[in-house]
Amino acid sequence: MPSTASQLEQALREHSATIGVVGLGYVGLPLVRALIDAGYRAMGFDVDPAKVESLAAGRSYIGHIPDSWITDWMERGRFTATADMGRLSEPDAILICVPTPLDESRNPDLSFVEATARQIAAALRPGQLIILESSTYPGTTREVVLPILEQSGLRVGEDFFLAYSPEREDPGNLEYSAQRIPKVVGGIDEPSARLTQLLYQPVVTQVVPVASCEIAEACKILENTYRSVNIAMVNELKMLFDRMGIDIWEVIEAAKTKPFGFQAFYPGPGLGGHCIPIDPFYLSYVARKHGMPTRFIELAGEINTDMPRYVIERLMTLLNEQGKPLKGSKILLLGVAYKRDVDDPRESPSFELIEHLLARGADLAYNDPHIPKLPSMRRFKVPAMTSTPLTAELLASQDCVLIATDHSAYDYDFIVRHAPLVLDTRNATRNVQSGRDKIFKA
Ligand SMILES: NC(=O)c1ccc[n+]([C@@H]2O[C@H](COP(=O)([O-])OP(=O)(O)OC[C@H]3O[C@@H](n4cnc5c(N)ncnc54)[C@H](O)[C@@H]3O)[C@@H](O)[C@H]2O)c1
Repeated sequence: MPSTASQLEQALREHSATIGVVGLGYVGLPLVRALIDAGYRAMGFDVDPAKVESLAAGRSYIGHIPDSWITDWMERGRFTATADMGRLSEPDAILICVPTPLDESRNPDLSFVEATARQIAAALRPGQLIILESSTYPGTTREVVLPILEQSGLRVGEDFFLAYSPEREDPGNLEYSAQRIPKVVGGIDEPSARLTQLLYQPVVTQVVPVASCEIAEACKILENTYRSVNIAMVNELKMLFDRMGIDIWEVIEAAKTKPFGFQAFYPGPGLGGHCIPIDPFYLSYVARKHGMPTRFIELAGEINTDMPRYVIERLMTLLNEQGKPLKGSKILLLGVAYKRDVDDPRESPSFELIEHLLARGADLAYNDPHIPKLPSMRRFKVPAMTSTPLTAELLASQDCVLIATDHSAYDYDFIVRHAPLVLDTRNATRNVQSGRDKIFKA
């Protein structure tokens, strides 16, 4: 086992190093794949024994990740998964990919990162490189992770090395797998930065070195804040243009023909997923500590979180025009995943839609080919429901079909043909030719 910087450097150059990945979720598993493809051996760590068992049996638990990835790694002897954190002394480098959610007061919940840092500190040995990948606010690596690791008695830059490299995974994006996304790297010191760049060079298409951990941390938050603010802007314009009788999606299609100075963002029923609705609030939190409000972030948050309520209002207006109250109306919700073609329901606006619909007495059913049963969620009261098969009879029996996620598995012609009324929050029905008079947007 390498126990000095130069030994670790050699192991990385020869690709003989073993890389540990802590947190085998939507980010961790694609990262394991990229590491193995680059020639490293990978060790996966997760506190959830069910995930470790599933991987040991060659089974993926994430919809868009096939079993064949795992069986291939196992058969080639390139991967082991364990819940035994005592084995964290075995890998030469450890990448931390654990959750960074918000707590009940919408403040950063770094408990997973801290717990992982304590587990690593308990096993830390000279020559190891630790890289935090979880999204977080600038300062986390130096002010939160480093002090915990140094409780081991080992010194950073001499005995062990530490860096931050944000994860930019876009689950389900076939064009940009982990390997194809440039990786920003900021070390806590020069040796840490150099070793981290070396680790990633064979793994990703481009390594982007920056001067510090803080710049790398701020880079990730900038990227996600940029998305959140721009999505809020088109969501607000959607509401305005609707009052003016203008279709926002047609406006965006036209605007995006401008070859410079414009990037298309799309409105929707609200923000979802583990990143965009959460990360900007990590920045607001740290900004408050610096005595400065982040008005763009707060305003974007306000507009985006109000979207489900807007969708419900549109739905009630539509039903009203047909002389129907929402109470007792049959509503079929299409899509519970937070975005197209994934099985990730985290922070999905569909849960807020479900709460509103049930609170107003709607007779609700849902369909999502990727989510057969509604999961329980920390922030929402979720009813026990299973996905209803999408038949012509079911569609015809509804008062309105509400499209919340534009999965590509849906046959939108079929849906519009059989449903009496469709409220589309994603412009998913844009190519449907007949029955357009039944389609409304929100
Ligand atoms: N999902 C995305 O699209 C995405 C994209 C970019 C960045 N990120 C960031 O990456 C990080 C991970 O996100 P994710 O979506 O992969 O989360 P995830 O919930 O899918 O996976 C995290 C895994 O960590 C495990 N875990 C929790 N505490 C642990 C501990 N102490 N030791 C070992 N394992 C532990 C959990 O059991 C889980 O399997 C977050 O900071 C997130 O913001 C996510």
